[in-house]
Amino acid sequence: MKTPVDIAVTGAAGQISYSLLFRIAAGELLGRDQPIVLRLLEVTPALHRLRAVVMELNDCAYPLLHKIITTDQSEVAFKDVDYVFLVGAKPRGPGMKRKDLLASNAEIFSEQGKALNAVASRHVKVLITGNPANTNALITQCNAPDLDPSCFSAMSMLDHNRAINQLAEKCGVRSMHVKNIIVWGNHSETQYPDLTHATVKGEDALTLVDADWIENQFVPTVQHRGGKVIEERNGLSSAASAASAAIGQMRSWVVGTAKNDWSDWISMAVMSDGSYGIEKGLFYSFPVTVSPSGELEIVKGLDIGAFSKVCMQVTEQELKEERDAVAHLL
Ligand code: NAD
Ligand code: LMR
Repeated sequence: MKTPVDIAVTGAAGQISYSLLFRIAAGELLGRDQPIVLRLLEVTPALHRLRAVVMELNDCAYPLLHKIITTDQSEVAFKDVDYVFLVGAKPRGPGMKRKDLLASNAEIFSEQGKALNAVASRHVKVLITGNPANTNALITQCNAPDLDPSCFSAMSMLDHNRAINQLAEKCGVRSMHVKNIIVWGNHSETQYPDLTHATVKGEDALTLVDADWIENQFVPTVQHRGGKVIEERNGLSSAASAASAAIGQMRSWVVGTAKNDWSDWISMAVMSDGSYGIEKGLFYSFPVTVSPSGELEIVKGLDIGAFSKVCMQVTEQELKEERDAVAHLL
């Protein structure tokens, strides 16, 4: 039997976690031969709800679930931890933009960044899901100066999967036949889902769909999908699809994108190194590959057309504005 691996999840009594924790415990993240310890963080008033989640996890009798630790202290949750899902944050309601959440959520990530800096494994992988995810990732990373910036990423995988699904539906194929979609920029309505390099069953996507569909259907549908789900769920935001994306992004980060059978690269918000002219330091969604040993690289040298360039700059500009709004926490 392998040595158990510690995985921390914040917001563990919330909606996303109600799907995420059970899938992690079943072995979907690290494999069906890897025992795990779940370290679950919640705010004090939610600890009773968390007790019920723990009862249900235990009642599943998962063979890989070695131990569950619950706490309202970040430094307990993150102690020596290898993998962290920062989910715990307020969700938006109808009519709100994700960046409106900065006022209530930004402080959470500065506190948790400091705690990670103090106690997490030096090789920790931290995936930020709580909104606005990219700027929360920036806040977390800035408050953890002793950890390498490559320890942090924000979730773009849900947008990436939404884009795959839209193109697959349009072309009448299964999602596994769509490759090399890119989501550039912010997890917000300014994100740019890009089909320029995508293929469908090996054929160039741009030969299968026209520019009008891309600009007036595909791009806005993906950009506004989160809001549409909130509308249809009477105010609740996506949960199961978000959990699925979180597992997908972290798993690709752990095992590498070559083992990922649905695409040659994935979209992931990581700290910009200046690629494609995007300002260094912003957490911006790029196409990335991850080697089997875990080395993450932004895919370089892709041709960027005039339409794409403008869209990429619009979403970059929004990230700069969000960064400036939280300058006191960086
Ligand atoms: P939820 O309200 O159901 O659960 C959030 C949980 O976080 C609550 O139980 C709350 O008590 C807890 N929490 C709040 N502050 C905390 C803190 N400081 N430490 C630990 N826990 C804390 O919300 P949800 O639907 O699970 O969504 C969580 C976040 O994820 C929201 O910000 C939402 O907008 C975001 N989200 C992001 C994506 C994405 O693609 N990036 C997708 C879906 C949702
Ligand atoms: C999503 O994209 O579904 C999440 O970010 C939740 C939201 O607020 O839209």
